[in-house]
Amino acid sequence: MTPANPAKRLTETPYDEFAVDVHRGLSQTPKRIPSKYFYDARGSELFEQICEQPEYYLTRTELEILQENAVDIAAAIGPRAVLVEYGSGAGIKTRLLLDAMQDPVGYVPVEISTSALAASVESLAEEFPDVDMLPVAADFTQPVDLPSPEQDARRMVIFFPGSTLGNFEQREATGLLRTMCIEMGKTGSALVGIDLKKDSAILEAAYNDAAGVTRDFTLNLLTRINRELDGDFQLQQFAHKARYNALAGRIETYIVSRIDQSVRVGSHSYSFAKGETILVEYSCKYSQEEFEAMAAKAGLRVTRTWTDPQHWFALQMLERA
Ligand code: AVI
Repeated sequence: MTPANPAKRLTETPYDEFAVDVHRGLSQTPKRIPSKYFYDARGSELFEQICEQPEYYLTRTELEILQENAVDIAAAIGPRAVLVEYGSGAGIKTRLLLDAMQDPVGYVPVEISTSALAASVESLAEEFPDVDMLPVAADFTQPVDLPSPEQDARRMVIFFPGSTLGNFEQREATGLLRTMCIEMGKTGSALVGIDLKKDSAILEAAYNDAAGVTRDFTLNLLTRINRELDGDFQLQQFAHKARYNALAGRIETYIVSRIDQSVRVGSHSYSFAKGETILVEYSCKYSQEEFEAMAAKAGLRVTRTWTDPQHWFALQMLERA
């Protein structure tokens, strides 16, 4: 680990990366836009609401696993560790973990949005005055120079909760695990939350909640394009569709055109046939064996697994193989 790069702390997603990805995605067949663009301020707010829907069991279940096993997990991590979190964190899961850990020496959230980072560290600093707060504004999918805490650390643990790994395709997810393997060092570990395979009706309900929050979350992507890229999507002419692809083991979320139409974004125009889709998200589900095989490809082995009584979700502890 090296000292934090102050230039990196100021990085935000460049405006034109979004424009380029949207243009490229809407020009290809089938159309697709990366799910990372869901998370503007409104999208992040809607995601928080998704986590509270009765059908969306993921967040609730992961939290229960953490609560039930906090002491055991903390013992597996060991004393004087640095907690690195991929994503802004600072939610209840981070607090739970920091609280259970034995003398944690540092907390390093890695997150692209500087505002989310600042908010997360500010609230945690008050609660954990003995933990060095070392936010890094960077894209965690790329190798990052991680800062060192002032106090001596015994080990690093990379926390990647929420089954966010499942939003990456198999090859990218393996690459991300490989990056973790490098970043954690010889003695480090990772604690990764993954959603397990289960009855497709339960999975599909989680991504099609009755209150329609997930629909609003998905369609907010079009509102974001309209606002930030000068688009003219008519939201009522598009629908949300999420279905489980059992063969691929993932929920696939689409935005579906309700009619034949043409949409302008900036100076480009894109035509949609009635029923044509934009693929906007994969949420991959794993069996224990599949996850272990993917970890092995990244040079990691699963040393501990904590799960809920129904085996719906799992927290996996990984170390170098
Ligand atoms: C952030 N991620 C793990 C969520 C998921 O379950 O794939 C995002 C989400 N999309 C629709 N609902 C929740």
